[in-house]
Amino acid sequence: MSRNFVGKLLIFLLFFIGSLDTKVLSNTLSLGDGSVFEMMLTNDTTPYMKQISIAASSKAIFNVTNVSSTASFIIFQIHIYQHNVTLSFDKDCLDKVSNRSIFGSNIGLLSKLTTNIMTQFFVKNDNVHDVKALLVVIAYNNKAPVPGGCNMEFDTEIAPYARMRTRDAMVIVDVQPASLPFNSMPWTCEKEPVEVEMYQMYLPEQDLTAETYFTGIVNMLTVEDIKKNGVKAMASIVSSPMRRIFSAYFGVGSVYVAVASYGDYSAAYVPIFSYGCNPTIDPVSCDILSEGVLKFISAVCFFVGLFFTFLGHHVSRVEKMFPIFFIGTVIGYAIEGSFVILQNNTVFWFLFLTLALGIAVVTTFCFCSYITCSIFSSFTIILPIDYWVGSSLKYIMINIVRRATVEDFNLAIVRPPIQTKDIWLIVFWICLALFHFYKHYQNQLLLNDRMTETTPLWNQY
Ligand SMILES: *[C@@H]1O[C@H](CO)[C@@H](O)[C@H](O)[C@H]1NC(C)=O
Ligand SMILES: *[C@@H]1O[C@H](CO)[C@@H](O)[C@H](O)[C@H]1NC(C)=O
Ligand SMILES: *[C@@H]1O[C@H](CO)[C@@H](O)[C@H](O)[C@H]1NC(C)=O
Ligand SMILES: *[C@@H]1O[C@H](CO)[C@@H](O)[C@H](O)[C@H]1NC(C)=O
Repeated sequence: MSRNFVGKLLIFLLFFIGSLDTKVLSNTLSLGDGSVFEMMLTNDTTPYMKQISIAASSKAIFNVTNVSSTASFIIFQIHIYQHNVTLSFDKDCLDKVSNRSIFGSNIGLLSKLTTNIMTQFFVKNDNVHDVKALLVVIAYNNKAPVPGGCNMEFDTEIAPYARMRTRDAMVIVDVQPASLPFNSMPWTCEKEPVEVEMYQMYLPEQDLTAETYFTGIVNMLTVEDIKKNGVKAMASIVSSPMRRIFSAYFGVGSVYVAVASYGDYSAAYVPIFSYGCNPTIDPVSCDILSEGVLKFISAVCFFVGLFFTFLGHHVSRVEKMFPIFFIGTVIGYAIEGSFVILQNNTVFWFLFLTLALGIAVVTTFCFCSYITCSIFSSFTIILPIDYWVGSSLKYIMINIVRRATVEDFNLAIVRPPIQTKDIWLIVFWICLALFHFYKHYQNQLLLNDRMTETTPLWNQY
């Protein structure tokens, strides 16, 4: 009887899991070539969202209907996982480059509502694969500023989307200035009266799945969610106020989105996304340890670290060099927009050298060298583990090197992702450092004892 019960339970569980699975699948609508999908906006306070998949080499049409009469404009967005598509106002513009269509992975068009009952959008998937996509429509009222309304550089007349480039370990995100609400008088783009801020959010490290990607986008769509989930990214003093430069963290998904604010009203731009590398086109770019030499160095580093921590009896000269890196690291972490003055190269290197030399001198002559040396010996163990588990502590060093070697990296926002893995590793690091410190301390006591014993001997000479 009990076996019967277990059997039934198992069958029930299987059905339950099966139903969960189909639920997720039935949520995703598959669109073939030429299909028309009607999007009825039933709620004007929350965004309309729908997960779809578009067949390979096909076009789809989206009819947006039932938009609230209080809405002044809508932003239609399509977010594709790992591929590009074309989004257009007109069917004719799908096949050519024009000022009424755009191409990309995280794109959107803004449609001003007048008397039209329905707005149509066209999407073309040129890829030889089906693509997974998230459709979003957000309506704004006539008091909201217009994202990208004062566009000067992008192709479309109004550009509510961002453009992104990855160069030399930097992710460069550009948006266009926002304009006053459509009904304002006079409607001007002079002096850029609308404030534009940019926000950023990290996804779990080394998680390149579609689910996580879409969850990330969904959490950065409305102004409220953006301010709750994102961290504000300051503009650099020297580059354009519409540009933000970020340090790239390979394999760590990151969502960037701008918000336009005017008076009490705000409107969100279309978020854009980066893994800091290109998993589809160039998977090797996401693998920071792809080269055999690096793997070798990291292994050597690990064993040297082990040696210093568990066997090293004296503070070696080499170890005394470490504080210099440490100081650089601390400064590296400090440069977040907030410390705008450090963006100046001369100031940075002057401060770096002064502090590094200062600390080196102090640690050479004081007992506290044990502490710094403990921290650094254990970091040599932590660093390889960090590579292997895919956390981000290595960027403590990498950002320093980038700062020294990459042009314009001084303008980048370096805020590294600190997630569960990083926190565990930091805890482990502290434990190792304490252990290392304790061993040194014991050795010192031992040494002192021996000294007092041997002193009379020396006195005989
Ligand atoms: C979409 O709009 C077109 C043009 O008005 C119309 O012909 C078509 O029936 C609509 N389709 C749906 C599914 O709403
Ligand atoms: C149209 O939107 C209104 C709210 O703006 C909603 O009450 C209504 O149910 C919607 N109509 C349909 C057919 O969904
Ligand atoms: C999408 O297009 C951009 C250029 O617009 C290109 O740099 C990028 O590699 C493309 N992505 C994919 C996955 O094809
Ligand atoms: C868009 O392009 C067409 C010609 O291709 C041109 O006539 C029109 O002025 C352009 N519109 C804008 C806003 O640049």
